[in-house]
Amino acid sequence: MEFKEYLAGKLDEAMRAAFGQSIEGLAGFLETPPNPEMGDFAFPCFKLSKTLRMGPPAIASRLSQAIAPDDVLDRVECVGGYLNFFLHKSGYAQSVVDRVLEKGEAYGASQEGQGRVICIDYSSINIAKRFHIGHLSTTMIGNALYRIYEHLGYKCVGINHLGDWGTQFGKMIAAYLKWGDRDEVVGRGVNALVDLYVRFHKEAEANPALEDEGRLWFKKIEDGDPQAVEIFNWFKEITLKDAERVYDMLGVKFDSYAGESFYNDKMAPVIDELKEKGLLEESQGAYVVDLEEEKMPPCLILKKDGATLYATRDIAAAFYRKKTYDFYKTLYVVAYQQNLHFKQWFKVVEKMGYPWAKDLEHVAFGMVSYEGKALSTRDGYVVYLDELLERAVVKAREIIEEKSPNLENKDAVARQVGIGAVVFFDLFNNRIKDIDFRWERALNFDGETGPYVQYTHARCCSVLRKAAGLDAQPDYAALDDPAAQEVVRTLERFPDVVKEACQRNEPSLVTRFSVELASNFNRFYYDNRILQEDNAAGSAARVNLTRAAALCLRIALRLIGVEAPEKM
Ligand code: ARG
Repeated sequence: MEFKEYLAGKLDEAMRAAFGQSIEGLAGFLETPPNPEMGDFAFPCFKLSKTLRMGPPAIASRLSQAIAPDDVLDRVECVGGYLNFFLHKSGYAQSVVDRVLEKGEAYGASQEGQGRVICIDYSSINIAKRFHIGHLSTTMIGNALYRIYEHLGYKCVGINHLGDWGTQFGKMIAAYLKWGDRDEVVGRGVNALVDLYVRFHKEAEANPALEDEGRLWFKKIEDGDPQAVEIFNWFKEITLKDAERVYDMLGVKFDSYAGESFYNDKMAPVIDELKEKGLLEESQGAYVVDLEEEKMPPCLILKKDGATLYATRDIAAAFYRKKTYDFYKTLYVVAYQQNLHFKQWFKVVEKMGYPWAKDLEHVAFGMVSYEGKALSTRDGYVVYLDELLERAVVKAREIIEEKSPNLENKDAVARQVGIGAVVFFDLFNNRIKDIDFRWERALNFDGETGPYVQYTHARCCSVLRKAAGLDAQPDYAALDDPAAQEVVRTLERFPDVVKEACQRNEPSLVTRFSVELASNFNRFYYDNRILQEDNAAGSAARVNLTRAAALCLRIALRLIGVEAPEKM
């Protein structure tokens, strides 16, 4: 049963009885009170005081007199301006648990996205750079949003908008031809490319002519010179191979790897259209779209030498995606440093007269620093993602060895736990918050962490294994105690949490929820003996609650891209 809908129905009846009028959307006002003494649901009457021209306490009191308890509602109390609803405990528990178990893996899912496509632009790494923690958030937030939207019925298109265009690639080729060695690049992969890049910059300080060589090679890529293109594509392959190893570890996938270079032949029509619409202005030899009215610096479209820019490609990509996928929304999961960039070019699309400009959304997130300092690939001041993940796995392996030496599949579980810890850490805080990466925090397995939630899930699974033979009609009166009721209430909230996480593009809501459910379940677990020999019916109810909790934990973890081993 949808309790909110049910109570809203009762409230509506009471409204008509007490005030002779009906108000829409009452279900949306119902809240979950911060503590159980305030009931299972609360209705804040101040939401009606304007319409009814009456103080909230008076409204609460008149409404409460018009609401009669029934076999769902035990009682209603007025406290201040609130109406607090208390449901019959066992009926409430039964109905929530039944609903979770009946929906199974689809609990919290909905059809709200039916027929709608969401393009998600995430991870979007740069060629010839090694995958480091600066790209963890975009990757994991994007991956989580993909799963959350999909759970709500949307069709998602995951796009890795590769940074595979720009003069730096000419420099890379120049460096490779001067100092590079094919076997070394094959052997050391992207590390060898990074070294070449660093060396190029060092030597170019003493010998600026190198820069011209770099430019020349980039020009050759642009002109389709076979040698240049071949080397460039090879670099790309190497980078992607390296990244794909990391994506595999993280369980991240893309539907498209169309990067910046993919739009080389798709920008001319956009530029023509900008010209036709009178939006393109010459400015010191370059072409820009003026955004003075919008109080922003102009959006640069063409450089003096005719070269296109990052924004030009983004605009062309938006048109391509609209045409190809007819998206309902496109999300750009990119750090807030690029706020202005997105605001500018979204505005350009709007000025071109396309109403779907409003469906482009920048999902910004905070900066990553490392032990208090800004990351810098050039100075080697970075943490590479594969190293981080490997270290987390090693640590998980050690803990497993110590605590569960007899576990089967130790290596597989260590991977799930170690990587889960890192992903969970990344998705724990509100996305806009800056993250200062510290090894001990990312590798912390206690408290509000991924391993804690995974452990709780495994604990549920262990209870369920022990209960395998139990076959009794559940008596939900066994779930009348406060700890069990709290688990029920938490489970009941899950669909709303997923929905809100989607509305706000905020996976951390799901992460936090999983911690809350885990800690509420653990309290229930310590307060109760789940399996009691002399009470099969009560045991069956507690087992069902455990089964529902396990399922919901597993779904929550899946939505944020963390695995849930059954044994730990
Ligand atoms: N490659 C860029 C970077 O690493 C991010 C690209 C984001 N996506 C986009 N469509 N602009 O900063």
